Amino acid sequence: QIQQIETIAQLRQVVKEARSQGKTIGLVPTMGYLHEGHLSLVQAAAERADFVVVSIFVNPLQFGPSEDLANYPRDLHHDLALLTTQGAAHVVFTPSVEEMYPQPMATRVELPELSGFLCGKTRPTHFQGVATVVSKLFHIVLPDFAFFGQKDGQQLAIIRRMVKDLNFPIEIVGVPTVREADGLAKSSRNVYLTPDERAHATVLYRTLCWARDQIATRKVTGSELAAGMRQRISEDGVARVDYAEVVSMDTLAPIDQIEGPVMLAVAAYFGKARLIDNMQLVVE
Ligand code: PAJ
Repeated sequence: QIQQIETIAQLRQVVKEARSQGKTIGLVPTMGYLHEGHLSLVQAAAERADFVVVSIFVNPLQFGPSEDLANYPRDLHHDLALLTTQGAAHVVFTPSVEEMYPQPMATRVELPELSGFLCGKTRPTHFQGVATVVSKLFHIVLPDFAFFGQKDGQQLAIIRRMVKDLNFPIEIVGVPTVREADGLAKSSRNVYLTPDERAHATVLYRTLCWARDQIATRKVTGSELAAGMRQRISEDGVARVDYAEVVSMDTLAPIDQIEGPVMLAVAAYFGKARLIDNMQLVVE
């Protein structure tokens, strides 16, 4: 049976007890509406750490004024049932907004150099909200390991850099993207898709596979490849491209010479839903 905790004080107490028994601590931050992608993070955490904390908190700071904060899908009852069935997590931390932000935040954690690219162009304050809440969770839980999905590639790069820059004594573990049978990356936001949009949404993964194969089979520049990716998404009748880019996994800046750790990253609108996907490769 998983223990549900709503206050920071109680969570600190429970983690302290686990640590005093010599256990290592793993943290999986989420916004809930859990699916197999989240559960694979929890599984990875259970394989790596002795005591696993999952947080479920829809963080207002990371939503822009015209974004889907109020409508963001939530089902705590179902989330708790999933975590109980999986049996890999020990504690689920479900703080209220009041508990996390008892007063307006006067502090912000921001990585401006990494936050302007990709999703930062349409979501200018998003990553500052993410870095700030993840910093708070790190300070509250003091985990040895924290688990993030490769699905949100820019977020993963930003958290890795934040941990380096600010000397958090935490190992960040990136977990591969879990996909539907047809390749669509699992996402809480997929529930926004109509059946027709859902069918077209596979264009993102198909485009990434195409780009990966191009790199494997011929000499191609980043800008040339990005243009090809953009074109393939544009040719879909339903998708509206937000971006299609080839970037460095470390700096997130677009690159022309495809070498080292690179990320192929795409984002497109399908009706009201904005979906993202990426592939992370190390090119010799
Ligand atoms: P959320 O979108 O709920 O995602 C929680 C974690 O699950 C993230 O690390 C995300 O990358 C991972 N994830 C989502 N879909 C996945 C998939 N298909 N395969 C593998 N991992 C997947 O990301 C957030 O919440 C928030 O920004 C958060 C980090 C919790 C801060 O508020």
